[in-house]
Amino acid sequence: MTNVVVVGTQWGDEGKGKVVDLYAEDADVIARFQGGNNAGHTLVVNGEQTILHLIPSGILHDHKICIIGNGVVVDPAVMVQEIDRLQSRSLFPADTKLLVSENAHLIMPYHRSLDMARESRKTGKKIGTTGRGIGPAYEDKVARVGIRFCDLLDDMIFREKLKSNVEEKNFFLTKLFGEAPLDEQQIYDEYRVYAERLEPHVANTSLIMEREMRMGKKILFEGAQGCHLDIDHGTFPYVTSSNTVAGNASCGTGIGPLAIGAVVGICKAYTTRVGEGPFVTELTCEIGQRIQNMGQEFGATTGRKRRCGWLDMVLVKQSIRVSGITGIAVTKLDVLTGIEKLKICVGYKNHAGEEFTESVPPNLRILSECQPVYQELDGWTEDISHAKLISDLPKNARRYVERLEMLAGIPLTLVSVGAGRESTIVLKNPFSD
Ligand code: IMP
Repeated sequence: MTNVVVVGTQWGDEGKGKVVDLYAEDADVIARFQGGNNAGHTLVVNGEQTILHLIPSGILHDHKICIIGNGVVVDPAVMVQEIDRLQSRSLFPADTKLLVSENAHLIMPYHRSLDMARESRKTGKKIGTTGRGIGPAYEDKVARVGIRFCDLLDDMIFREKLKSNVEEKNFFLTKLFGEAPLDEQQIYDEYRVYAERLEPHVANTSLIMEREMRMGKKILFEGAQGCHLDIDHGTFPYVTSSNTVAGNASCGTGIGPLAIGAVVGICKAYTTRVGEGPFVTELTCEIGQRIQNMGQEFGATTGRKRRCGWLDMVLVKQSIRVSGITGIAVTKLDVLTGIEKLKICVGYKNHAGEEFTESVPPNLRILSECQPVYQELDGWTEDISHAKLISDLPKNARRYVERLEMLAGIPLTLVSVGAGRESTIVLKNPFSD
């Protein structure tokens, strides 16, 4: 038995929520290790949809420990809201624990204000952030002025840190962005309420995870966003502000890397991207529109329309390398049903005839000149949403996933053919060696 990390291989929204939810059945502990409430995991259980932005998807299962690790930036207002919502719908099992690391940094109102002020400013590059304050919260962490949960629970430290932060942030908000200043006392009062509400959830989660592992319990690390939104390995600067790759599962929870035995990369059968940034296989034609409609490709956090395009194996291969992915879970294959000819991008070519097949060029000028090199496959028209085995798929759908597997060079662990738990072809359980 091993511990498993699940990460996205594209630009997020690969359908990680559903896969994490499935794997959570076999896990004892489900831990998030990066990002914040910029994530949006859509789960459909018994036909009912639940969208979680912050709390790990494992929360819907009985008898689990759900952990928000030190690498996550937490908006306490969202945490309280999600707990309340789950409880009011009886979706928070009484014997499941929700814990947040005492080292996790808080998202403060000034982080949201700065995020939005920067994005709405006319000069500079617009990233198309989710506006949730994620980047500014991570900036404060790196600048060593951030406020952690352990600080929130200590009234003196919290007051002191809040005062100096509000002073500095108000300077930028008013002088640079022409925004209204924030009121320190109001934030203090608001955050005192969160401190009281959330104190029972705050813990040394690294110690708890170690204790569970010693008892032979299994951990599922739930990645948010995707490898190409990684601050180091993504299409910088059009990325999020954390490391989304599998290696951060270790750093973002306080567990050594040898505890991780398998890494499942979630790969949507096509590609989507929300926000700005390069997208070599983007389809601005009617097929892109069709995929957007059929796949219901709207951001779960912001409701924005996702840009859609063909499957890009250059992206996926880079993700396999940088995250050490050991198995691929293909999602939303059913969305491609009815498209006559399908394309898979196997390389990029620029004006000078240079080819890129293993790695996305980091230089945005070179990348913007790149054209996709495609392999074309025949599509299928049959409904595949009830397939339980690969052999249940029509010949052309089988060929499509087999080509994906061959190009990836690693085995498939599952193929998802619909939103519900039951619409899944399971090929391998990543928890068994
Ligand atoms: P931020 O994470 O809000 O700073 O946004 C930075 C970039 O990452 C923007 O392009 C967002 O659209 C994108 N992004 C952040 N979280 C997600 C996600 O969960 N899915 C897809 N894109 C995301």
